[in-house]
Amino acid sequence: MQPPYIIANWKMNLTRSESVTLATAVVASGSKGGSVILCPSFPNISSVADVLQGTTIVLGAQDVSSAERGSFTGEVSAAMLAAVGCRYVIVGHSERRQRFGETNQIIGQKVSAAFRAGLTPILCIGEKRDERDAGQARAVVRAQVSEALAGTEVSAAGLIVAYEPVWAISPNPPARGDEALEMLPVITDSLSQSVGVNAARERCVVIYGGSVGASNVTEFVRPGKFAGALVGRESLAADEFLRIIAEADAAYATRSPRSNV
Ligand code: PGA
Repeated sequence: MQPPYIIANWKMNLTRSESVTLATAVVASGSKGGSVILCPSFPNISSVADVLQGTTIVLGAQDVSSAERGSFTGEVSAAMLAAVGCRYVIVGHSERRQRFGETNQIIGQKVSAAFRAGLTPILCIGEKRDERDAGQARAVVRAQVSEALAGTEVSAAGLIVAYEPVWAISPNPPARGDEALEMLPVITDSLSQSVGVNAARERCVVIYGGSVGASNVTEFVRPGKFAGALVGRESLAADEFLRIIAEADAAYATRSPRSNV
């Protein structure tokens, strides 16, 4: 797995034509350094897939069903995502945990569904403000990792874990680099315990998300620190998103470890 990963989470933004325009601008930049992944909303995935075909920019989705097929109105299966060209899928975003009641167990089932279809899950974890203030951040994050990955074998597609402290996701102000980085060893340790030391080292990376922009991305994303960023708001305009990619690529230009676990 080749860092830095710069992953655009467009959330419920952009129409089809806006998605195509933005994807076209990202492709036109010719970015090659790291691994750039765009995650449009479901109706726009196929149109963006057409833009990305034959380029170095990769397609992802924002969610997936834990079920394979059948009577699950409104759901989208991992196989459907793979069939339209997705290689990655965001799972367990804090907005889905908070607004749609997703538990660590449900999220674990989605991770497994992604693996079965050959997709790389982008597993989002992160504590809320009150949990951090109560000194529970480490325990919360450990539980999010261990409960979602219990008994899971990381497939050859690999696993990206995105640490996104909920209190730092926009419109909240960003965390400082040191506040985010103090959680990295906690996450890597619980990953190793959950999936095994070798799988963690060889098939997993940990990235960061939460109000990341061009001016602060390298506080988090550097060799030996976070292996990339999951970017929401600042991924919605081509100029800013391309600046984030350039900053992160420059930080990694001298050294490219395979994993930060
Ligand atoms: P943000 O979103 O960059 O707008 O804070 C990140 C995310 O929620 O994935």
